[in-house]
Amino acid sequence: MLLGIAMGVLNDHRLKTLHAHVNLIGWVSLFLAGLYYRQIPAADGKLARWHFALATLGLAVLSIGLAGLAFGEMAFEPFAIVGSFLTIISMGLFSWIVMRTS
Ligand code: HEM
Ligand code: HEM
Repeated sequence: MLLGIAMGVLNDHRLKTLHAHVNLIGWVSLFLAGLYYRQIPAADGKLARWHFALATLGLAVLSIGLAGLAFGEMAFEPFAIVGSFLTIISMGLFSWIVMRTS
């Protein structure tokens, strides 16, 4: 959100995609998962720790990639690729946890 304010103040929206994903993957998606784990305690086990760890690592790596690419630095592409896969693996794991417990 601070990045959003900075973009507005500087009138430079190049990091819009980074801002969108930090908020939507990092905040909204993890908060929704947290609500699920709170509602369904059986889901809150070892796999949930893995989901959280992979999601956090994935977002961190993806963010580095998105930031670099936003400034046209193609050398950051591998970060976007690895971060994307970590993120989608974590989401797959969460889907599995949900299917197993509902
Ligand atoms: C203090 C709070 C926030 C500020 C000042 C802010 C500011 C901005 C700005 C300046 C942009 C770029 C707009 C553009 O270039 O068209 C943007 C885009 C965006 N923001 Fe925020 N934002 C805030 C919070 C949030 C939150 C909490 C979320 C999600 C939960 C969010 C999601 C998005 C998304 C998805 C876009 C991309 C929209 C598009 O592609 O048209 N923002 N925001
Ligand atoms: C592996 C995970 C993800 C990857 C690699 C990814 C990648 C991308 C890419 C490449 C764009 C186009 C950006 C551009 O045109 O400059 C985009 C846009 C967008 N994505 Fe994702 N995304 C992911 C997950 C998500 C999730 C989980 C959400 C929502 C919960 C989301 C919400 C959005 C929104 C709102 C936009 C339009 C805003 C913008 O253009 O910056 N994404 N995403």
